[in-house]
Amino acid sequence: MSLKLSQQPGNVPEVADDGIWLECIECGETFAPFEAVRYTCDDCDGLLEVRYDDLPTWDDFEGRGVWRYNAALPFEEGVSLPEGDTPLHEVPRLEESVGVHRLRIKHEGMNPTGSFKDRGMTVGVRVAEELGVGRLACASTGNTSAALAAYGARAGLETLVLLPEGKVAAGKIAQASLHGARILEVDGNFDSCLDIVQDLAARGEAYLLNSLNPFRLEGQKTIGLEILERFYEDEGRYPDRIVLPVGNAGNTAALYKAFRELVASGALHPRDVPKLTGVQAEGAAPMVEAVENDADEIRRWDEVETKATAIRIGNPVNAPKALPGIRETGGTAVSVSDEAITSAQRALAREGIGVEPASAASVAGLQKLREQGVVDADEDVVCLTTGHLLKDPDAAFEAGDDPESVPNDTDAVLRHLEG
Ligand code: F0G
Repeated sequence: MSLKLSQQPGNVPEVADDGIWLECIECGETFAPFEAVRYTCDDCDGLLEVRYDDLPTWDDFEGRGVWRYNAALPFEEGVSLPEGDTPLHEVPRLEESVGVHRLRIKHEGMNPTGSFKDRGMTVGVRVAEELGVGRLACASTGNTSAALAAYGARAGLETLVLLPEGKVAAGKIAQASLHGARILEVDGNFDSCLDIVQDLAARGEAYLLNSLNPFRLEGQKTIGLEILERFYEDEGRYPDRIVLPVGNAGNTAALYKAFRELVASGALHPRDVPKLTGVQAEGAAPMVEAVENDADEIRRWDEVETKATAIRIGNPVNAPKALPGIRETGGTAVSVSDEAITSAQRALAREGIGVEPASAASVAGLQKLREQGVVDADEDVVCLTTGHLLKDPDAAFEAGDDPESVPNDTDAVLRHLEG
């Protein structure tokens, strides 16, 4: 496998602060990390990446949770609830029915606010403190808003969230509301919310904490680091493939960056890099379209629809970072129907793992790729489940069995159970 390494250790630009700088992935321009608020390149508007003079090896990691990996992060510690250390479940029945050598589920729904977003937020809010910004803001399909509201509250900062009206699961709005975010519901989809919040950020009205913010992705790298460490501890090797749901493709980009940095430091052999495999819902699959057409650019889908509202996204802003990750690791992308998502959600629940629909997309995607023969029977696979079942109680009710009504009487209950 050829893994292009844009990372050049030892080549530190003058703008670096303590060995850290921001670099444009398009034109290579470098910027000081904490002098000014900046989300994209001043020169060409390309996406920015956080770069480090010093890249970590496994021995550099100690402690627990996200901040165990502070040798790979811009700060020693942050505003923490704490996050990370999520389970890597075994699922023997599902493993057998999918038909792979090893299947493990990395359940990110077990983070403090019930999704992987907490990992990015603990770092992002720490950076916001460093920059001394006032109001924090994000557009969200729900989970980012819940995480921002909680971490903003923890830091004592004002938070503003923009949500697509009528398209966010109940649990997520409840969280944002109770943690004290100001919630604006926009008559449009997630992509329009992100357009507006980017405008607000550009006008200096708020500090943007969507995954366009390169520091958030630093925190999310720790999912990849945790998976590799735990899988190796348990199995004595690294997984062949990591399958994950894709919305803005921030997580895909973050995992790829984690792997690149490990390879650059010599901690991981390029042949051991897992194949990054993205899954989208059929009704919102611009990344899958780009991978299938071998296109370098994404076509923005203006109309998107899926029961997996977390990934109801038509313009994955991190595609320029994520597409090379999928390609260079030998991975792929696949779309799945809402029916397949519900059926995977039920299958996971029958193993005791409660996830929201978007999360189940990873398992549905693996099933489809296995049936197509794209994934081999001898592969060791980790599926990422990104959000907790309770995030979307309506979807859970719909996917689960209905409660049965019985009289207030033991004998009647017994007769009902027998009948
Ligand atoms: N799974 C869940 C549960 C999500 O909430 C998201 C994104 C994704 C997967 C996709 O991750 O964007 O990194 O590719 N949710 C964002 C939000 C958009 O606003 O909560 P991605």
